[in-house]
Amino acid sequence: MTQPINYSTLPADLHPEALPAHVAVIMDGNGRWATQRGLPRVAGHRQGAKTVKDLLRCCQDWGIPVLTVYAFSTENWRRPMEEVGFLMRLFDRLLRRELAEMQRKGVRIQFLGDLSPLPHRLQDLMQEAMAVTCSNQRVQFNVAVNYGGRQELVAATRHIAQQVACGALSLEQVDEAALSRALLTYPLPDPDLLIRTSGEQRLSNFLPWQLTYTELYFTEVLWPDFDRAAFHQALQWYQQRQRRFGGLTPAPLAQGF
Ligand code: FPP
Repeated sequence: MTQPINYSTLPADLHPEALPAHVAVIMDGNGRWATQRGLPRVAGHRQGAKTVKDLLRCCQDWGIPVLTVYAFSTENWRRPMEEVGFLMRLFDRLLRRELAEMQRKGVRIQFLGDLSPLPHRLQDLMQEAMAVTCSNQRVQFNVAVNYGGRQELVAATRHIAQQVACGALSLEQVDEAALSRALLTYPLPDPDLLIRTSGEQRLSNFLPWQLTYTELYFTEVLWPDFDRAAFHQALQWYQQRQRRFGGLTPAPLAQGF
């Protein structure tokens, strides 16, 4: 009989030197997970939050330095008020409960997106969490909240236009590196692997610039069920990919961090 895998350390069939340096995740399927169980949709978000917590721990345990999750898009305001309110309270509660642990484990948390429409108390909490953890180096945890990729590109373009207008940048200096510097993810490497759960195969306005060369992994698993075994499968799939970045010869699997 085969031994069950112990997921507290990197599974033996994964190569540590070829792990993604940056994993991005579109956490989809919370509502369907709850509906399938006859529960209110918010029960799916509550369970989904436990999945995020374990994935973050898993990145610490397995040596993946950057994790970026899509927690709330600019389009999610269109959901019923009760669901939006529940999500805001959930972010608030999670931050309060998990901040000390993140600090102890060397996690740096960063929020990507326009935080200004969020409840003031939550904004303060987010700013505090970013400040308290800013020098931690073990894992960088990015949470996209009120994030929209096109909005990010518009803001970056405006920033560059301003720099050109005031003479800080010449037109010739406006290149890919300048645009990357103006994005919310700077100076992080672009994601090597994107995971989207629940069978949907779209990017939904998530990191459009940064995902240009990323390996895209779609799975039918609903987000609340995305456990370490499911992550293991995604990484096995990733390690079989050949990344050529438009060239003919395979490049290293991760770009390094
Ligand atoms: C998408 O599933 C999920 C969301 C819009 C919310 C994600 C939020 C969490 C998992 C909560 C905690 C996260 C952090 C990082 C603090 P859906 O509701 O669209 O599912 P459906 O497509 O089945 O309706």
